[in-house]
Amino acid sequence: MTEISVNSDRQYAVSIGINWVEELGRISGNFQRVLIVIPQSLRILFRIDDVIGDLKNCIIFDTTDGESQKSAETLTHIWGKLGDENFTRSDAIIAIGGGATTDLAGFAASSWLRGIQWFAFPTTLAGMVDASVGGKTGINTDAGKNLVGAFYSPSAVLMDPSFLHSLSDRDFAAGMAEVIKTGFIADSEILSLIDSAASLIEIRGKAPALIEKSITVKARVVSADFKEGKLREILNYGHTLGHAIEKHADYQMRHGEAIAIGLVFAAELSRELCGLAESSVDVHRQLLSRFGLPITYPAQAWPQLLDLMRSDKKSRGSRLRFVGISRIGQPDWIEAASDQLLAQVYGRISS
Ligand SMILES: NC(=O)c1ccc[n+]([C@@H]2O[C@H](COP(=O)([O-])OP(=O)(O)OC[C@H]3O[C@@H](n4cnc5c(N)ncnc54)[C@H](O)[C@@H]3O)[C@@H](O)[C@H]2O)c1
Repeated sequence: MTEISVNSDRQYAVSIGINWVEELGRISGNFQRVLIVIPQSLRILFRIDDVIGDLKNCIIFDTTDGESQKSAETLTHIWGKLGDENFTRSDAIIAIGGGATTDLAGFAASSWLRGIQWFAFPTTLAGMVDASVGGKTGINTDAGKNLVGAFYSPSAVLMDPSFLHSLSDRDFAAGMAEVIKTGFIADSEILSLIDSAASLIEIRGKAPALIEKSITVKARVVSADFKEGKLREILNYGHTLGHAIEKHADYQMRHGEAIAIGLVFAAELSRELCGLAESSVDVHRQLLSRFGLPITYPAQAWPQLLDLMRSDKKSRGSRLRFVGISRIGQPDWIEAASDQLLAQVYGRISS
């Protein structure tokens, strides 16, 4: 078991390589009651009812799958449940699921009684390397994705890599986009580990090492800049265009799939403005393609993508900001890209 410490609004440990059944028993034993928030499909897959059979203080709240659970409606139902059960500050919430579940449950914990403890048991690769670490929680509304939320860290993040055995190749690949992003901004060893694996099965076998390396980077960054002053923005490499593509595709793509396209765009932009070598841009395409991740997007979408990037909650003022890299492991901030250059760079990644 490896432990990585995060020091942000609170200090907490991310434990990689735990046994989730044992940890669930241990944590629930520390509270009067715990509400376990979990998608119904995972409740069945992981036989949660059998696992908590003897744990009398565990109450299950099951959600729908995927993005649909990150809604004001589900949040209201969770509040209702917490009220019915008279949850106090001696009680806690446990999230078991992907990033959508940890975002929802973390936000519920932040808002009940102005904050009760919560614990994350991420079950997807994206949830492990990204969503559960860093303290961003939230839901989607008609106004947009993740616009309502809070910075509210869990008390602990518990990772059992055996959860990944049942994860589809598509969801594994989506998580790998964030792992690859982390490699480009901060740790070339991540890229070497992926590159040296002969097959996707071998890469799945290396997941614990890739998770550990990715979280080490994220923990360092969010510990230094929890509320995204400037440094934390480096985690958004590939995300300016990626978020716009997600929205343009009406959230029918996985987050990591949209980010994969955004990464190639950010790399091409970095070649123009940060001096990134062409060979490093090629490495982006090679590594992402290994997982079947998309690296192009339709040419005619550009005007709408530009509008969407301008309206993104992360843009500040009218000028678009991008994170670039000048070489692998060396992030840079791009604020002076003209519309003409952006269109030209998009031309290189469009289909
Ligand atoms: N808070 C943050 O910092 C942050 C960062 C990145 C992404 N996110 C959010 O995370 C979400 C994306 O995360 P995600 O890709 O984990 O999505 P997700 O939670 O929707 O999970 C994807 C799918 O995988 C299934 N699944 C989960 N674990 C499984 C397992 N072990 N075996 C089989 N199937 C399993 C889920 O039921 C779901 O259908 C988005 O809502 C995004 O906004 C948050």
